[in-house]
Amino acid sequence: MTELIAGLDIGTTKICAVIGEVDEEDQVYILGVGEVPSRGMRRGVVVNVAEATAAIGEAVEEAEREAQMPMQSAYVGISGAHIAATPSRGVVAIGRGRSITVDDVERALEAARAIAIPHNREIIHTLARSFTVDEQEGVRDPIGMVAYRLEVDAQIITGASSAVQNLIRCVQAHGIAIDDLVLQPLASGTAVLTNAEREMGVALADIGGGTTDIAIFLEGTLWHTVVLDVGGNHMTQDVAVGLRAPFETAEELKKRYGHVLPERVAADEEVTASLFGENGAQSVSRRFLSQILQARVEEILELILREVKRSGYDGLLPAGVVLTGGVAQTAGLRDLSRDVLQLPVRIGLPNGLGGAQLANPAYATAVGLIQWGLQQRRSRPLRRTATSPLLERIIAWLRTLLPG
Ligand SMILES: Nc1ncnc2c1ncn2[C@@H]1O[C@H](COP(=O)(O)OP(=O)(O)OP(=O)(O)O)[C@@H](O)[C@H]1O
Ligand SMILES: [Mg+2]
Repeated sequence: MTELIAGLDIGTTKICAVIGEVDEEDQVYILGVGEVPSRGMRRGVVVNVAEATAAIGEAVEEAEREAQMPMQSAYVGISGAHIAATPSRGVVAIGRGRSITVDDVERALEAARAIAIPHNREIIHTLARSFTVDEQEGVRDPIGMVAYRLEVDAQIITGASSAVQNLIRCVQAHGIAIDDLVLQPLASGTAVLTNAEREMGVALADIGGGTTDIAIFLEGTLWHTVVLDVGGNHMTQDVAVGLRAPFETAEELKKRYGHVLPERVAADEEVTASLFGENGAQSVSRRFLSQILQARVEEILELILREVKRSGYDGLLPAGVVLTGGVAQTAGLRDLSRDVLQLPVRIGLPNGLGGAQLANPAYATAVGLIQWGLQQRRSRPLRRTATSPLLERIIAWLRTLLPG
């Protein structure tokens, strides 16, 4: 018995559809991947429903053809500067001091959701940060604890209704049901972060074409998130203006010869490109190209740093910053980031799924959507560990029998 699981990453520069198969051991095998240049999207949101719908259809068809399976439903990523995170608390009475159940946790989250949300916004996620069980604060998994009162400290992630509804419409137009809308940085984080990083404290920055999605993970859960309106397209735009080149030429130059540490590029190295107002190929200084890119990337990094500081958690990130998204492939990025951020930095690749084909930071969201979806299907509403309290007790008891 296998089941299918699919992810749809509808980005500003590319749309990526992935169909996977899950076996009895919860191993995912990627059956098909479809990728097409994005249309009808700007800065992470749908700006033209017809265009975006058509492009999504092409990516889905490609994945279906390869998988030889239809995509009936999918986990769909959502991003854009309209995303907001609001803290909220929910309290429920347990009554007569019985053990807390999954339903009690659900009721507490439901209570946390009952905050005033403007009529033009919708809730995308209600994420539990921690619980207070009677007087005991900072409880991560309250299920099974005996208590009279359960309180949840939650994060309510909302998005502009128009952006949410347009995205849903583009996907449903193809008869694809939406398993869940998933905040893109949450998906990317699932794909590229280790459990240890999430536990210790880490900031994830997914730098895509149109947006930079930042997520701060502490104690194993998402603590804070913000989406910035900057990305690789700004870098390309700067190159286009700086060199007077068409956008496509600038994009090509950036990807092929770009570096963000100009001093590492030989001062006399020249590359050729066809520029505006010139006939034939012209030579361009690669160091100049790098200087342009460095300036913009420094600015993006400063913005990331500002958001991390603004969150108030900057002192709590021993695992530093993990960079992912297409821009994370830029040469020299890791070293420049360490200088600017003054934190440990690594480039996050989605691993564990799809082999070499998807082991590229640009696929962090697509791969993460599948992994996040699988976790949701496997767990009850919360992060549940595989072992039950009873099983844990039996294991502990068995240990006492071992020769120590
Ligand atoms: N080898 C490379 N070197 C530098 N930049 C690259 C490279 N490959 C891709 N990029 C840049 O990465 C960006 C696209 O990243 P990605 O595919 O993560 O974006 P997206 O998911 O479509 O957009 P978003 O998440 O912002 O909506 C583009 O600006 C592209 O130029
Ligand atoms: Mg993206």
